[in-house]
Amino acid sequence: MGSFERVDFFTDLSLVDDPYPYFDYLRSQGSVTRLPHRNVVAVTGHEEALAVLNDAQTFSSAVAVGGPIPDLPFVPQGDDISAQLEEYREQMYAYGAIVTMDGARHAKSRALLMRLFTPSRLKKNEEFILGQADRQIDEFIGQGRFELLKQYASPFALLVIADLLGLSESDRKTFRDQAFEVPQQMGADAQVESSAAEFFGFVFNYFEEYISSRREQPTGDILTDLAIARYPDGSLPEVADVAWVAAFLFGAGQDTTARLLSACLQVLGERPDLQSLLRADPGRIPDFIEEALRMDGAVKHAARLALRSTRIGGVDIPAGTVVSLFYGACNRDPRKFENPNEFRLGRPNVKEHLGFGRGAHTCAGAALARAEVRVSLERMLQRMDDIRIAEAFHGKPGQRRFSHEPTYVLRGLKELHLEFTRAGGGG
Ligand code: HEM
Repeated sequence: MGSFERVDFFTDLSLVDDPYPYFDYLRSQGSVTRLPHRNVVAVTGHEEALAVLNDAQTFSSAVAVGGPIPDLPFVPQGDDISAQLEEYREQMYAYGAIVTMDGARHAKSRALLMRLFTPSRLKKNEEFILGQADRQIDEFIGQGRFELLKQYASPFALLVIADLLGLSESDRKTFRDQAFEVPQQMGADAQVESSAAEFFGFVFNYFEEYISSRREQPTGDILTDLAIARYPDGSLPEVADVAWVAAFLFGAGQDTTARLLSACLQVLGERPDLQSLLRADPGRIPDFIEEALRMDGAVKHAARLALRSTRIGGVDIPAGTVVSLFYGACNRDPRKFENPNEFRLGRPNVKEHLGFGRGAHTCAGAALARAEVRVSLERMLQRMDDIRIAEAFHGKPGQRRFSHEPTYVLRGLKELHLEFTRAGGGG
């Protein structure tokens, strides 16, 4: 384990394919431990992570996405940096994104966002999800093989959000074409980061125009609802604030869902026993998804900034410290989950994983993501028998090769090639 001592999690690409031995090393140093670089304290304990997530007064989300990269635009001074953070807030990375907001500003944006997730809207969206799953499976069902991310998961997750936002057919196509160029939100290298920023800029500008035109000429669609929606205090949001909400959904809800689906299929591709079990009893698919979120959740890291000097897990945390929440490690905390490295269907406490975060910033799209993955698995298991990992791409059992996206935020396969036998009656 000694070899991990000087490793920099935020830039070291050797941790990308399998970060779990590094997480074990961190945990062996304590469930809260200072890293050798970047003024960061790492949290790998489930209980300690909850203590941070549930104390938004002490821990700001201003660094939620980037963590310690880029550097803070100020040098923290004293035992309370709240005023300093407010002074420099607009210079913080991803300033306009809801996930980086705190307090009243966050609550206002969240109220706006939740207008999209009404029960009737979600119900309509689920009808779309079901239809879309089958339409996409139709495209490759006759071939006996497919690459999950490009041929199914990425376009599927994108089109579901496009439907949620009520985008027209031609706009969906624009996004679908554009989206294939999109790498991760945050990468371990500057190049990935800048192309992510480019895509985000594209989506943001698009929605800014969309919202402005809906304000001038309401059309009665979903984006009109969002464009004319007021904050709970009755004031009208800036166009840019609404555009951020809509644009953020593309960043937050697309890759994450696609990667979760790939994590599920990777397990199923190796485990014919689980495939048979879930085919026979689809009611257990939701449990299976929760365990996949716990074992290999799509968000492996999020961060908070200590506003005041404090202590967590017996470790001093001076104001201005970045607190790295290693969700991927907390979800395998042996104090919380028995035999944490074992994929175990039916764990009684599985839903306590932190795959969707917790506290004020709990994932707003969790119900949607769960529905997308559940319906996809239901349809795939019904229409395809004997789903297996394609050896030509990933090697034989015991010698598999899988590449993951080079990012310290998300956890996800670059591609997953699968083969299957078309099901007799279900095709
Ligand atoms: C499997 C799929 C997904 C995973 C694993 C996931 C995970 C997460 C996590 C861990 C957070 C909290 C980040 C933090 O603690 O700072 C979060 C926040 C968020 N997620 Fe998701 N997410 C998924 C899908 C979605 C979808 C489909 C949407 C929307 C369409 C969405 C929208 C959001 C939003 C808006 C936030 C920020 C909430 C806030 O700051 O109040 N997510 N997500």
